[in-house]
Amino acid sequence: MAVPEKILREVSALRQQVEHHNRLYHSQDAPEIPDADFDALLRRLEELEAKYALQEDASPSQRVGGEAIAGFTQVRHEIAMLSLNKVFDEADLKSFELRLKKRLEAESSLQYSCEPKVDGIAVSLLYKDGVLERAATRGDGTTGEDITHNVRTIGSIPLQLKPKIKNTVIEIRGEIFLTKEGFKKLNEASEKEGGKIFVNPRNTAAGAIRQLDPKKAAKIPLQMYCYSVGRVDGFKLPKTLSEVFSLISEWGLPVNPDRSVENGIDACLKYCLALLAKRSVLPYEIDGAVLKVDNLELQRQLGSNARSPRWAMAYKFPAEEKSTTVLDVEFQVGRTGTITPVARLEPVFVGGVTVSNTTLHNMDEIERLGLQIGDRVIVRRAGDVIPKVVKVIPHEGASNKIERKPILIPEVCPACASALEKDGDVLYRCSGGIICPAQRKESIKHFASRSAMDIEGLGSKLIELLVDKEIITSVADIYALTPEQLASLERMGDKSAAKLIAAIQKSKQTSLPRFLFALGIREVGEATALQLATHFGILDGIIAADLDSLVQVPDVGPIMAEHIRVFFSNKSNVALIEKLQGSGVTWPVIEASYDDSAKPLLGETYVLTGSLEKMPRNEAKAMLIALGAKVAGSVSKNTSCVVAGPGAGSKLAKAEELGIKVLDEEEFIALLDELMA
Ligand code: IVH
Repeated sequence: MAVPEKILREVSALRQQVEHHNRLYHSQDAPEIPDADFDALLRRLEELEAKYALQEDASPSQRVGGEAIAGFTQVRHEIAMLSLNKVFDEADLKSFELRLKKRLEAESSLQYSCEPKVDGIAVSLLYKDGVLERAATRGDGTTGEDITHNVRTIGSIPLQLKPKIKNTVIEIRGEIFLTKEGFKKLNEASEKEGGKIFVNPRNTAAGAIRQLDPKKAAKIPLQMYCYSVGRVDGFKLPKTLSEVFSLISEWGLPVNPDRSVENGIDACLKYCLALLAKRSVLPYEIDGAVLKVDNLELQRQLGSNARSPRWAMAYKFPAEEKSTTVLDVEFQVGRTGTITPVARLEPVFVGGVTVSNTTLHNMDEIERLGLQIGDRVIVRRAGDVIPKVVKVIPHEGASNKIERKPILIPEVCPACASALEKDGDVLYRCSGGIICPAQRKESIKHFASRSAMDIEGLGSKLIELLVDKEIITSVADIYALTPEQLASLERMGDKSAAKLIAAIQKSKQTSLPRFLFALGIREVGEATALQLATHFGILDGIIAADLDSLVQVPDVGPIMAEHIRVFFSNKSNVALIEKLQGSGVTWPVIEASYDDSAKPLLGETYVLTGSLEKMPRNEAKAMLIALGAKVAGSVSKNTSCVVAGPGAGSKLAKAEELGIKVLDEEEFIALLDELMA
């Protein structure tokens, strides 16, 4: 049936109106028409599309309601999604400009596009002929995940760019985030329904974007600000980034209203400080400002290294600080019996999360702070670092609601009433050992944790319940758990019980380093466990090793060697290991590396800088040492190679200056794979 011209025109007009109101509502928070009128427009559009079979992906009627997907498809970014170098102060910002000018041999000042560094999730939108074809997460920068189904539900992201740009492919990149208000409302609504409480806007956005079911994602009021262009085919971009922003904004893409073009680095610094001053009143969370050379040709000339463009810099804001009251101090018992004071705080929103307790580390720290219960304190939280009490606000006297009380170390263990022993100058330790339920719980939590035996689903709460109900008393009991025992627990159905049993079974296939780490030997962290495993190759070798052979292992000093000896000379520990092996816990044999010929990096010195995203830094360090390399803290002409993760700064610059080989994380992992094969 030929569709009457009149209908086609009406459908086209309706689509434009719906998108226009979508944008006003979602990205500008300024609706022009009542919700009921909007619904009527959308209904009319849906009706006509259905009647004349005009449904198409680019229509705003197709935003919500897609089917859940079974799993994520990987997407390769043709142009890598890089991260940013960062500076924290004026001096480093100035040297950034000096470097730029030197490279460009420029005399006069440069123009910068200055933007807030929005704390969200980086995504890529691919438009073909102006129609949104695919959206993907950044992933590791080279490969991300296809999240088109969720991005289509975000009202402020156009499914169709305003002009129909034929024969083009344009990739737009930006940050998806949740406003502070959106986050607050979401939590209020969730609390009313007895649902889960979201931790912070960033995590919530990350969770929503990785939903399999777009109907669930659609419930989270996500927003996006576009900040760069990736792949462009068949279209000539304007000369500057700021013009690109104006252009794509005309196309209907959301760009940050708080951006600005500044001339010279001094003006940029003013921009950064002004942004910092209004940080708390901005409607979205930021963790700094981003400065980019505005001229695209100059950007091209400057180019990038493996991790980040040379033409951009993040100016990171200092950690956030807030004041609150210490309501109480409790003493927690750790896996090896150490007693740690933990402050219970009046909940305070700082650095993007609500903080209601924080560790005080030890009695010395309490003394250093001069802290008493009831004190007003300053709490600081930077990035993902755990919050910290930085100082006590001088006593405010009568204004305090809580009576001031000194913090005293308890006389006996708060969990099992065993005597406390002093360990060194500042530490106290419960002497209860295996009879102390707190130590038992903590050692089981450690055993099941991700870096140890990695038993998915066996979390803190469940372990506490299992120990309290005396279903398990040691880690060996985990492998004797039955589906019936689990299913009898509150909030645990047959399905989750079966899932947990499967995870427990799966964990039996492990590796020697993981198993050693899981045992929870004092001072033996992941890196040392790896050292021990690669040095000795087999567990029996470690069990039998005397102090002399233990100190041969790189990084193992006499104290750690003593802890290892004490652990393995305890018969019940050896019996526990046998019991675990008897339940089927096993690992592949690894070649021992006593022999120097097995150390291909002997004589080389490596420096690790920036953050590594795929492997813990200590693990990287341990592997290098196991391969014979030295790992140094600073770059000199004796350095053989620098491994630079995102955020690498002066060490990377120095390596480049000295012409030292630089590997990014991926190249580094490839090297390890090759050498360890
Ligand atoms: S530009 C080529 N601009 O910060 C440079 N990034 O560490 C790519 N971010 O992964 C990033 N706001 O998720 C740029 N205005 C902004 C940004 C921004 C937030 C995030 C982005 C990126 C990370 C860089």
